[in-house]
Amino acid sequence: MSESDKPIEALLQEERVFTPPVECEKSANIRDRAVYEQAKKDPEAFWSNAAESLEWFKKWDQVLDWKPPLAKWFIGGKINVSVNCLDRHVRSWRRNKAAFIWEGEKGEERVLTFGDLFREVNKFSNAMKKLGVVKGDRVTIYMPMIPELPIALLACARIGAPHSVVFGGFSAESLRDRINDADSKLVITADGSYRRGQIVPLKQNVDAAIEGCACVEKVVVVKRIGESASINFDEKRDVWWHDVVESAPKYCEPEPMDSEDPLFILYTSGTTAKPKGILHTTGGYLLGASLTHKWVFDVKEEDVYWCSADIGWVTGHSYIVYGPLANGTTGILYEGSPDWPDKDRWWGMVEKYGVNIFYTAPTAIRAVMKWGEAYPEKHDLSSLRLLGTVGEPINPEAWMWYHEKIGKGRCPIVDTWWQTETGSIMISPLPGLTSTKPGSATFPLPGIDADVVDEAGKTVPLGGGGYLVIKSPWPSMARTIYGNAERYEETYWKRFGNNVYFAGDGCKRDKDGYFWLLGRVDDVMNISGHRLSTMEVESALVDHQQVAEAAVIGKQDDVKGEAIAAFVTLKEGINGSPEKIDELKKHVAQKIGPIARPESIYFTAELPKTRSGKIMRRLLRDIAEGRALGDTTTLADASVVNQLKNQYEED
Ligand code: PRX
Repeated sequence: MSESDKPIEALLQEERVFTPPVECEKSANIRDRAVYEQAKKDPEAFWSNAAESLEWFKKWDQVLDWKPPLAKWFIGGKINVSVNCLDRHVRSWRRNKAAFIWEGEKGEERVLTFGDLFREVNKFSNAMKKLGVVKGDRVTIYMPMIPELPIALLACARIGAPHSVVFGGFSAESLRDRINDADSKLVITADGSYRRGQIVPLKQNVDAAIEGCACVEKVVVVKRIGESASINFDEKRDVWWHDVVESAPKYCEPEPMDSEDPLFILYTSGTTAKPKGILHTTGGYLLGASLTHKWVFDVKEEDVYWCSADIGWVTGHSYIVYGPLANGTTGILYEGSPDWPDKDRWWGMVEKYGVNIFYTAPTAIRAVMKWGEAYPEKHDLSSLRLLGTVGEPINPEAWMWYHEKIGKGRCPIVDTWWQTETGSIMISPLPGLTSTKPGSATFPLPGIDADVVDEAGKTVPLGGGGYLVIKSPWPSMARTIYGNAERYEETYWKRFGNNVYFAGDGCKRDKDGYFWLLGRVDDVMNISGHRLSTMEVESALVDHQQVAEAAVIGKQDDVKGEAIAAFVTLKEGINGSPEKIDELKKHVAQKIGPIARPESIYFTAELPKTRSGKIMRRLLRDIAEGRALGDTTTLADASVVNQLKNQYEED
């Protein structure tokens, strides 16, 4: 964490404060500060009261059972997520309200009302049942951002089959590992997807992945591309989405799920090479996603809301699918890139659909900033009312640019801190109440007991920094790592005792108590808002037959936040060359996915290690970022570092 010390000191001097706009103060969903106090005084009453906003088949008998680190919420409650996202709206006037306005990368449009979505979800639920999927079976979903993706998620929720969505940018191998780990019976994919005009061969990846999966019985394929996808179709195993849906009955009885039944598994990177299957359950997760969506984004009935994430990440799960649909919100669903066919694509869509609320990642804001303000200026952005960011710390410069050039100085910005594991937003302004400071996620939400502690777990007084922890359970918290309860306890609940959640992030609080997130304190990188472990990339490199050893770090990058830098020792007799660098980059992209392609690779005869054999990543980071070297007295062979440093400077 220490290398972040310098910039953060500057951050803590941040004097700019933005008070909520008067209209927002007057009309926001949450206008009374007392809610923080109430939640603190009696958390169970607070959450219980909040859970009344959901529709339950049967209410809970007990709010919380907390046997640290195991939490159960709304015990005895019976609920179905798809009923909350669809049926209750379809019963009301919202039946013909748009649930999703979809735009394909090529410009096609499709509007699905809640009624349409309800019908499609019911039919696909029945189709899955006919394919043999029963309650409790896992379903892996590897799809582009097309309407069938949220339909698939909701159908899984309806029949009680936990889904595991794998981001379409992951490789066949990564997909295979995730299918095997979840032991999925069914895979849902498409014949391909479009990305910057290119076809991404999703079905081919599925075919390659499944070669090593005994568990998969059927593959459902959406026809997105058609002829030019030229896919192989295994008549015994593969079925077309449109075929199975066509003959399916119109209504599927929703499964009454126990509040604690699993809703989904979502893989995320930890500190080892093997991604963790974070498991979320039903009642508590839905409450977290829907409540925070309503409060943080201050969503109103008539709003058009757009979260630009991919559903393959948790942001898409909670803030494209479950939160917004539970609240009956109209959302935009966009298939492609922000810069295709040109760099004003997003802003053209904001104008076209009259988007009121826009939620994206700092890395995207920094890219847009770099492209220049002429692109947003081409469009009327006056419909925007509120802006949000997520995924990584936002630098004050990018915050100010977002505020001025996109929000025209008018829109509050909610910088939202949370994680796959937390299920929903934990630290964020409430737009009608909180004065914001550029670069700070401000305060924990009502009911969230976050703190900053030192090595010994003691609260650090205001003005100081340490580790971010959460000291009380919350409904949308992860319940376990699928198939590895031990790792769950070890990773999150051992560092500061077993009733304190360790988030893995560094954090400082200023004198006013504002939280300033500092990034990860473990070996997890944040590349363009995507989580990747250094170990994952290292093992992909070492998998190459000519690589003897590799060390990977995230180095600071103006747009991506962090970029992957790898230090590689080749096997005896093999020489490094620009071609070898390309080959290794390709190898990693093929093993994990294009998101893991290292930006720079340095060859070195040896890696700097401590006497106990640990790779000195901090030192490598200093070298990759061109900083002066700090203390190297613990190095086993100090000459290694100088050699590396010289090489870097020649680069
Ligand atoms: O380091 C924090 C960073 O993203 C991590 C969580 O990544 P993931 O599980 O992929 O979820 C991303 C979207 C919720 C955190 O440990 N992070 C997320 N939001 C912020 C952030 N860092 C600083 N500020 C944020 N607003």
